Amino acid sequence: MARVELQNVTKDWGTAKAVDDISLSLEQGEFAAVLGPSGCGKSTTLFMLAGIYMPTRGDILFDGARVNDVEARDRNVGIVFQSYALYPNMTVLQNILFPLRFKKVPKAEAEKSAREIAELVEISSLLDRKPSQLSGGQQQRVALARALIKKPNLLLLDEPLSNLDATLRLSMRMEIRRIQRELGVTTILVTHDQIEAMTMADRIICMNAGRIEQEGTPEALYTRPETVFAASFIGSPPINLLPGELTADGLRIGETLLATRGETNARSVKLGIRPEHVVANGHGIPAEIISAEALGRETLYTARSALGDTRFLEATSAPKYKAGEQVRLSFDAAHSILFDAERDRRLEGVSAHA
Ligand SMILES: Nc1ncnc2c1ncn2[C@@H]1O[C@H](COP(=O)(O)OP(=O)(O)OP(=O)(O)O)[C@@H](O)[C@H]1O
Ligand SMILES: [Mg+2]
Repeated sequence: MARVELQNVTKDWGTAKAVDDISLSLEQGEFAAVLGPSGCGKSTTLFMLAGIYMPTRGDILFDGARVNDVEARDRNVGIVFQSYALYPNMTVLQNILFPLRFKKVPKAEAEKSAREIAELVEISSLLDRKPSQLSGGQQQRVALARALIKKPNLLLLDEPLSNLDATLRLSMRMEIRRIQRELGVTTILVTHDQIEAMTMADRIICMNAGRIEQEGTPEALYTRPETVFAASFIGSPPINLLPGELTADGLRIGETLLATRGETNARSVKLGIRPEHVVANGHGIPAEIISAEALGRETLYTARSALGDTRFLEATSAPKYKAGEQVRLSFDAAHSILFDAERDRRLEGVSAHA
């Protein structure tokens, strides 16, 4: 187990900043997810923690000690790459044992550890096979076992589930979390899948263009996003963001004036409302349904009104409204999130309702 800190860490590639002055700290045994779009610096951050890349500036600390100059193999970090990177000519057992090759562990003892780890990740019956004789999910487990054999202080997982089908992803999410809890190993999972981050992590670190947008519990990121980016990156279907003007009289969106509470400083804003918080219950803003998509458990509608196009969800499996039908939309002040349009940051102490 290890406490892990990044202090003002930057990674430049020539003139481009892959990671731009990020600071964060993880407690022992914590499971954090680094979530962000392609190219935002997630893998670079992971590789700096693993010792594969050297930060251009800033410090990396394990249990309070600076490790910038410590070689990758001396950091005791387990890493699972997106591609698994198993050795095709080795058996599963040899793959799992590989990280111990330079350690002076007696063969019998090493094999005993490998068999224990194989049991933990439930691949005991596959130890004599070659990677090509395994399914994607089984290969993923072998990669995980190989990362765990050294009893790492820190486990780094770079999109480990992206090659798996939906059902397998679901069960592997729970498996990885179970194994992580059992071992109590500090873990960082890199993903661009917000559901994976929400369901697996104690804490989400949301990254954008090399910087940390926001970090917090999954619940905090969902209910109190600090930026427009965090609000729109987390949540599926995505949050509605309606541009408007905050005035002393209320929030003006197009020709419609919505009642507000709190701050009345005039400014351009974006009103954020999650689709599950917009209700079509007969009062509020007149709107016309333009599409209805049955998602299984619920139906996602898009409705056109003076506010613009607005998505809303209803918990019925068969669509209740058809395209062309007229409804009225409303939402609670408690579920509204207002963002300053200039800085794209959340405005505290102001809400709107319809
Ligand atoms: N070795 C390298 N040389 C130059 N630029 C690099 C190198 N590695 C990464 N980059 C650049 O750094 C930025 C961050 O890359 P990184 O791989 O960390 O992104 P990511 O968040 O992991 O993306 P993805 O979700 O696609 O894996 C990108 O713009 C990328 O092109
Ligand atoms: Mg990556």
